[in-house]
Amino acid sequence: MIRKVQLEDLEEVMKIERQSFPVAWEYSIFLNICLQSGHIVTGKSKSLSMDVIEENDIVVGYAVWELDICKAECHILNLVIQKDERRKGKGRMLLLHIVDNLKTNRIRTCRLEVRESNIAARSLYEAIGFVASGKISGYYFDENAIVYTMRL
Ligand SMILES: CC(C)(COP(=O)(O)OP(=O)(O)OC[C@H]1O[C@@H](n2cnc3c(N)ncnc32)[C@H](O)[C@@H]1OP(=O)(O)O)[C@@H](O)C(=O)NCCC(=O)NCCS
Repeated sequence: MIRKVQLEDLEEVMKIERQSFPVAWEYSIFLNICLQSGHIVTGKSKSLSMDVIEENDIVVGYAVWELDICKAECHILNLVIQKDERRKGKGRMLLLHIVDNLKTNRIRTCRLEVRESNIAARSLYEAIGFVASGKISGYYFDENAIVYTMRL
């Protein structure tokens, strides 16, 4: 089941985030998103959204993305599946769910950055139709980013 994040998910989300990244997003960022039930208006035409994917009532992954309705653009900021639940199709399911929503909202392009060495994520993005469109040197403190984009 995929749904908007809620405050009661915060502990599980932080556990997954810290387990998954050497530099985790700060607690305060997730707290803010959870307090607003996964949808924050950040500007005139901009918003931030967060969905979780759960199994047996336990959160096993999440995604965060930013929309600019005027520009018809989406920027995916975070996508994670809990370690023990990887390679079971959940990352694909969550990403496709977001892409479906983007299409419904008439968003035209979606982009994201990923570590050059992150084969799992890059394979997933390529599998669902993202195309590598650039490289940003030193985007992460210790590594380059590959930019992926998809026309919807
Ligand atoms: C990237 C990530 C979200 C993928 O989630 P997942 O649920 O394991 O992915 P799925 O099971 O849906 O895999 C879908 C496809 O992606 C590719 N893929 C996923 N993991 C892979 C891996 N370890 N090696 C190679 N390809 C992989 C495959 O094409 C796979 O299809 P297949 O299983 O039919 O071969 C997960 O590995 C993760 O949370 N990683 C840590 C956080 C992260 O790096 N996030 C991305 C930040 S940009």
